Parts: sequence; structure tokens; C-alpha cells
Amino acid sequence: MNNDILTSVAKAIVAKHKGVLAADESNPTIKKRFNPIKAESTEENRRRYREILITTEGIEHYIGGVILFDETLRQSTQDGISFARLLSSRGIVPGIKVDKGTNPLALYPGDKISEGLDGLRDRLIEYKQMGAKFAKWRTVIEIDNHDIPTAFGIRANAQVLARYAALCQEQDIVPIVEPEVLMDGAHSIERCEEVTSRVLEAVFAELDAHRVLLEGMLLKPNMVIAGMKCAQQGSVQQVAEATIRCMTRYVPAAVPGIVFLSGGQSAEDATDHLNAMNMLGLHPWQISFSYGRALQAPVLTAWKGQEANLAAAQETFLKRCKLNGLARDGKYTRAMETAE
Ligand code: 13P
Repeated sequence: MNNDILTSVAKAIVAKHKGVLAADESNPTIKKRFNPIKAESTEENRRRYREILITTEGIEHYIGGVILFDETLRQSTQDGISFARLLSSRGIVPGIKVDKGTNPLALYPGDKISEGLDGLRDRLIEYKQMGAKFAKWRTVIEIDNHDIPTAFGIRANAQVLARYAALCQEQDIVPIVEPEVLMDGAHSIERCEEVTSRVLEAVFAELDAHRVLLEGMLLKPNMVIAGMKCAQQGSVQQVAEATIRCMTRYVPAAVPGIVFLSGGQSAEDATDHLNAMNMLGLHPWQISFSYGRALQAPVLTAWKGQEANLAAAQETFLKRCKLNGLARDGKYTRAMETAE
């Protein structure tokens, strides 16, 4: 384990103005994203779509890392340059999603667990040879009623995340640790804060026990936000304050960056929340983004699976990257959405 490599890669991903593009949808998930625009999820369409994203000129100022799916890491541009090489040549760090999705946690109805630890060491060795310098593992915590998630469900997921992070660092791969408390459901913002707090507390206890180098990892949490079906939604300011309060209490200052997931928020809301958090002052960690849907949903709408819309798709993507880059400095305003 080389602490200098881990630390410098982690810092590079969240350098000034920069965040992460999560383009690591599994094949079933990208099919779901393609369905509304009536694009067929063929291997070539998936390749072409990811190529459109990562060849967009100018994104290297705002995107420090791109998370790819296994299939995508093995793909190349039309000119035959592997995606990992293309990204590296533009100063963007290539990364790989390594969890194999979630399943019900046995004997704990309602709790979920992420799988994929078996054989992970060998997969990481292969991904590293293919150019991946960081990885991502997502666990899912659902808020159901007062009993879900259970304390054991939280601990089990924290342990899996820490096992993954340790395996990554053993190979000099920076782990992005993603414990996602879902926005599904009708829970209040207070309940989200309570659950997110318990989750982060458990995750950092396990990371410590597993000897994970905090300086050589990134945290990818949910924002503290009410469930989508909750009648009372917090204001942008409330979400920002609750999220930063929660991070301040549970995320050690040694972690270089917190890269939030968007989790089903609109692209504009996700940028607004990021901006408001950065306006709350100087934080010990970089407060940044690792958005999937909030960066890509408008791009998919512009592209519609058609080559004729290539320029519009790339223009839309660059705009979202730019606006999130501004939000990294607290310099975004909602009026910029409609400005030319
Ligand atoms: P969203 O931003 O769409 O939540 O995706 C981020 C991600 O990578 C989830 O694992």
C-alpha cells in the first residue's frame, strides 16, 4: 500500500472546481435510463453514449474522475483508444464500480446488503492493469418504518464497505465509500439525519478497525433530505445545514473529499444544494459531487439516442459540469439555468 499514491489520487479527483461523473450504471440500470428516450440498450449504443459523455470538450475543468461499469472499462472510442486511456490523457482519473448490487440481508427482512467481495482482490488487480485508479462500492440503506434499517443492517453494510476499502487500498486503488440512505419513502428530513448519522458513525468505526487510510479515500454519501413522498420538504438552506451538521459530526477531517450522490433529485436541485453547502463557509473536506442522474438526465433528454443530437447532448453536459463546478465555490445561482 502506497500512501502517497492513494493520497494524491484522492486529492486530484476533488481538485478545485472538480467532482465526479458517475457513469457506472449496470446494464439493467442504463436500460432503465434509455427507455424513456426510446434508445435501445445495445452494447454499441451504451458505448456510443459513454463516448459522447467523456469526449465532451471542456469537461476536464470540472470533472476530476469518471466511474465506469465493467463493460465500459473494456470499451474504446471509435478511433480505438480505450476509455481509460482517453480519460487519463485528458487529466481525468478513470474509476470502476466494483459492487455487484444489493440483495435482501438474510434473516433481516427489510434490510439490504451489497455483494461482490468474493474474488474482489483479483478483480481489482485486473482493473488496475486496465487503468482504473479508483473504485466505487455502493451500499443501500432503506428507511422504511421505525425498525428499518436495523442497527445490525447498518453494521453489516459498514463492514462490507470497510472490507472493500481495505482491499482497494492494498492495490493502491482509491476507494469511494458509498453508503446511500435512499430518498424513497415518506420519512422526514429529521429521520434522514438520524439514520445518516448512525450509518456514518458505523462506517467510520469500521474503516478505522480495518486500518483504512482516511487520507486516501473519498466518501460518497446522500444529502440529508426528506423522503420523496414526504409532504414537508426542507428548503435548500435547511438541506445544506442539516447535511453539513451531519458531516461535521461524523466525517473525520482527514478525509479529503465528500462527493455527494444525487439520489433522484432534479439536476437543478442537486446543484443548488451543493452550492448552498459550499456557501456555508470553509469545511475541512472538499464538498463536491459524484452525480449520476443529476449530470446525465438532461443529456439523455437532449441526445434521444440520435447521432444528429450529438452537439446538443455535449453542450448540455458541459453546462451541467460547469454549473456544478461553480457550485463547488458557492458561485451558482438558479438564474444561470436559463441564462445563455
Ligand atoms: P445518482 O447521482 O444518480 O444517485 O448516482 C450516483 C451513483 O453513483 C449511485 O451509485
